[in-house]
Amino acid sequence: MRRKIVAGNWKMNNNQSESNILINSIIEKNSENSSCNIYVSPSFPFLKDAVLTCSKSNIKVLSQNVSHLTNGALTGDVSCTMLKSIGINSVIIGHSERRTIFGESNDVLLKKIKICLENNLEVFFCIGEEIEARNNNKHFSVIENQLNETVFILEKIDPKNLVIAYEPVWAIGTGLTASPEQAQEMHKFIRQKFTEKFSESISSNLSIIYGGSVKPSSAKNIFNQSDVDGGLIGGASLNANDFSDIINSI
Ligand code: PGA
Repeated sequence: MRRKIVAGNWKMNNNQSESNILINSIIEKNSENSSCNIYVSPSFPFLKDAVLTCSKSNIKVLSQNVSHLTNGALTGDVSCTMLKSIGINSVIIGHSERRTIFGESNDVLLKKIKICLENNLEVFFCIGEEIEARNNNKHFSVIENQLNETVFILEKIDPKNLVIAYEPVWAIGTGLTASPEQAQEMHKFIRQKFTEKFSESISSNLSIIYGGSVKPSSAKNIFNQSDVDGGLIGGASLNANDFSDIINSI
């Protein structure tokens, strides 16, 4: 059985006290929840506090990024072992903002995925097409290419350590959500590709979550799709009520 997941991608938002308040409020509102795995992702300086605050709860803490190398002369970077040493077990890799603003290529993303898996960090790997690709009916080939140049280079994968987040770039932070049918169609395609590359048992256990302007009003219809196993939530995860409503939609 694959896991249902609702993860908040806080991006570069919330100072220390805002981060603490939001986490405590999310814990309070969702302490009884057992229908899905819930994640929050404060910025680097607040991860350790978040791990301590969440340690007795059902909420997990997710890092928004990690270095592609182990250690050394990489000013400003944070390594897997540093994250592990403060109790972080999960990392987002390949978010479209990292790809476009910071120029992270599939090559670098593959290195990040490998180093995380070697260090037993669970990977949330983001893929998604730009609006031009969708308008030109190239969305499936873009997604296939992103997979071919990254996770499909791995010899094997374990669905316990890998989550795919399908995030159409045109839907991120724009208020434009993919329709439930568009999300289902792409998630089914992604799962099919994992079956072809690895196996049916791997693809059927792989959680594929959707991201891109998910709101309390749209979450239920998207989560109801058979190949959608949850969501990666940006803007709406910054508000404890909205995030909890989304969690309760699963
Ligand atoms: P959004 O962000 O929900 O604000 O569109 C999603 C994401 O970037 O992961």
